[in-house]
Formats: sequence, structure tokens, C-alpha cells
Amino acid sequence: MRVALAGLGDIGLGAHLPALLRHPAVQLVRLVDPDAGRREIAAAQGIPVAADVDPGEVDGVVLATPPWVTPDLVVRYARAGLFVLAEKPVATSVEAAGVYGQLSSEERSRVQVGLTYKSEAKRS
Ligand SMILES: NC(=O)c1ccc[n+]([C@@H]2O[C@H](COP(=O)([O-])OP(=O)(O)OC[C@H]3O[C@@H](n4cnc5c(N)ncnc54)[C@H](O)[C@@H]3O)[C@@H](O)[C@H]2O)c1
Repeated sequence: MRVALAGLGDIGLGAHLPALLRHPAVQLVRLVDPDAGRREIAAAQGIPVAADVDPGEVDGVVLATPPWVTPDLVVRYARAGLFVLAEKPVATSVEAAGVYGQLSSEERSRVQVGLTYKSEAKRS
């Protein structure tokens, strides 16, 4: 699967990048961030960088983006036919999360929210 990583901050470069590079089924083809400084840091990886995702060149996108940016990106890329893994939180308010209502059930089925840590339920 051809994948772009969008959001080259702490969690993008520190957690998602090494996980994507480790996965044998993933070909990481683009590192994306609108911030030129972040792209410059990430360019050391030897993977092409860009300011925006080109949905035509990938099957999926990982979004390690700020939660006020993530909702519109999830909707845009899911509607473009991509698989989307989005970092939580996926919105800053219930109102902002309303945009997910634009997605069909098929589009929603290609969206997963990244929850790195799960708390264990205590049993008495
Ligand atoms: N840092 C953590 O330990 C951690 C853990 C779990 C979840 N998260 C979540 O992951 C997300 C990212 O956190 P972070 O700490 O890496 O933030 P960060 O601020 O370090 O990085 C976010 C990056 O996203 C980029 N960005 C902004 N708009 C973009 C766009 N339209 N397309 C692509 N990139 C864009 C920014 O330029 C920045 O480089 C947040 O939602 C956060 O809540 C972070």
C-alpha cells in the first residue's frame, strides 16, 4: 500500500514514521507538512516531501495533524477514496465533529482513529 504521512511534528516523526517504515506492506512515498521548516527536518529521511497530499499518488494517508485541522482532512481524503488513519482527537468540539456526517458509510469504513494507548478496565 502506498501511503503519505501528513503532519511532521512530534507524533508524526517520532511514532508514525518509524512504524510506517517498519511495516512490510507499506510503501511510504510522501512526507507532508505545510510548514517548510518541518519539511526540511523530515527531508533527511530521504523520502520526498510536499506541502499537501496528492490523493492520486497514494492509497492511504496517516494524519498526525492538529485536531482543529484533522476533520476537514479526514473528510477530504476519505471522499477521495483513500484509507485514512487519523490521530486522536479527531475534532475540538462536537460541533466541529459534525463534518464527519458528510461521509457515507463506505467512506467512514476507510477511516480509523489512532489510539496508541488504551487504558485497561479494572476488574474486581
Ligand atoms: N505528541 C504526542 O505524544 C501525541 C500523542 C497522541 C496523540 N497526539 C495527537 O497527534 C496530533 C499531532 O500531535 P503532535 O504533538 O505531533 O503535534 P505537532 O504540533 O508537533 O505536529 C503537528 C504537525 O502538523 C502539521 N500540520 C498542520 N496543518 C497541516 C496540514 N493541513 N497537513 C499536514 N500537516 C499539517 C504542523 O505543521 C505540525 O508540523 C495531535 O492531534 C495530538 O493530539 C500526539
